[in-house]
Amino acid sequence: MAKIVHHRDEWVARAREILPAGGLGNFDPGVFIRKGAGLRVWSEDGREFIDLLIGSGPMILGHGHPEVLEAVSEQLPLGMTFFANNSRAVELAEEICRAVACAEQVRFVSSGGEADMFAMRLERAHSGRDLILKFEAGNHEMSAETQMSLAPTRPANYPDAIADSAGIPDSVRRGILVAPFNDVEFLQKLLDQQGDEIAGVIVEPLQRIIPADARFLRKLRSACDRHGIMLIFDEIVTGFRLAYGGAQEYYGVIPDVCTLGKVIGGGFPLAAIAGRRDIMADFDREQVGAEGFLMQVGTLSGNPVAASAGLKTPEILRRSGTYDQLRASGKHIMSAASAALDGAGHAHRVVGLESLFDVVLAAQRVTDYREFIAADKAKGDRFNASLRSNGILKAPGKLTCQPPYPKMISTKSRARLIQQQVPCKSAFSAGGRSSNMQLEFPVTWFWPGPGLQTVHERVSKGTEWYRTLGRCVSNAATWLPADAAD
Ligand SMILES: Cc1ncc(COP(=O)(O)O)c(C=O)c1O
Repeated sequence: MAKIVHHRDEWVARAREILPAGGLGNFDPGVFIRKGAGLRVWSEDGREFIDLLIGSGPMILGHGHPEVLEAVSEQLPLGMTFFANNSRAVELAEEICRAVACAEQVRFVSSGGEADMFAMRLERAHSGRDLILKFEAGNHEMSAETQMSLAPTRPANYPDAIADSAGIPDSVRRGILVAPFNDVEFLQKLLDQQGDEIAGVIVEPLQRIIPADARFLRKLRSACDRHGIMLIFDEIVTGFRLAYGGAQEYYGVIPDVCTLGKVIGGGFPLAAIAGRRDIMADFDREQVGAEGFLMQVGTLSGNPVAASAGLKTPEILRRSGTYDQLRASGKHIMSAASAALDGAGHAHRVVGLESLFDVVLAAQRVTDYREFIAADKAKGDRFNASLRSNGILKAPGKLTCQPPYPKMISTKSRARLIQQQVPCKSAFSAGGRSSNMQLEFPVTWFWPGPGLQTVHERVSKGTEWYRTLGRCVSNAATWLPADAAD
């Protein structure tokens, strides 16, 4: 029988022994989460955090949302996985096609990275061309093709790609071209020179926190059309977040194919490739023949438990006013953070859109990766460390806001959160140290959740929660050590 361990240090020691780098490869391995409820998580050593990580995006409704739990509980006794068609998966695919403009058909996989990998293979299969264009720092996760110029420490000359990981053959690297994000002139020149060799382009419409310029996306769309290039939007993050119909609804630019994940799995492993029917036909041997067929099989693809949670999540999100509230909440934190940093004399930019953004400690504008890495990382780390030490779960590179779950945050907890602002000062004075991050992004992400008018939530109280968070951010800004002020 497994030994019961209650102390974080013991868990850290056990993990170090058995897991490479002592962790699961995602978040700071020193943080052990025991449970989550609503907007909070508790660590193995009994600390309570406001969870702004939200599982890196999927938990947009918070932990243990009662309606999602109910949907999952109804499915569990009926079966957890079949490796066969099931009605929940078909219903989820239908909802995706109703919501997302480019989606006429859907293929389910188990992770966002897998979806991106197959979407890129689809570009090659459909066009018969080999080259793929991505943008510097665009994150399409961990396949060999996508670990290219994701977080380069020594930027190369465009369009040369740099592999971010060991173990990637140079032949793969040579199949990828890299362009600067948001640079219309570079893009047009490159496509004029090599457009007819390029199978497809993959782009995050919101690159981590950096919004695409709408003109850039429109020019990208028309250049792809001109050269017969397939355009993929990686909407793993933006899908059902920027708007119900994702970034393509938000920007009014429709790709040929998109990838979706996070929200559509409701906290379970589920992701999807969704796109034009004639392109998706490549997954169907009967339609395209053995030569054109793109083989894709996955044991857990479209599993009914994940599909049940995934189906319930958009159902809740599409209720009236949700996205307005999500944006209003984000706007509130953006301006609270900005006013606080301004007041304390710290040069900064709040980068992103209301539904996903971050504070970057930089004086100059941030429209691409190279401008982003010019920010003051040490100062950003101190800002982030202060939030963590004051009960806000975050990572350097990802700090996500949870939806307000006002009924699940007691008056006592609120009072404690306000009191906790006092130690912010000492955390900053000590120059809080950042934890280990998979990608060395020097800033945090805020992912505001919507103020949901569900049975147990009221929008007005949700706003109060964001005010509390805003105050903590303000204090963190005010208490940055004077010698670090600009
Ligand atoms: C834009 C983007 N694409 C793809 C992925 C990969 O998703 P997953 O972690 O489910 O493989 C991520 C993960 O954070 C992402 O941010």
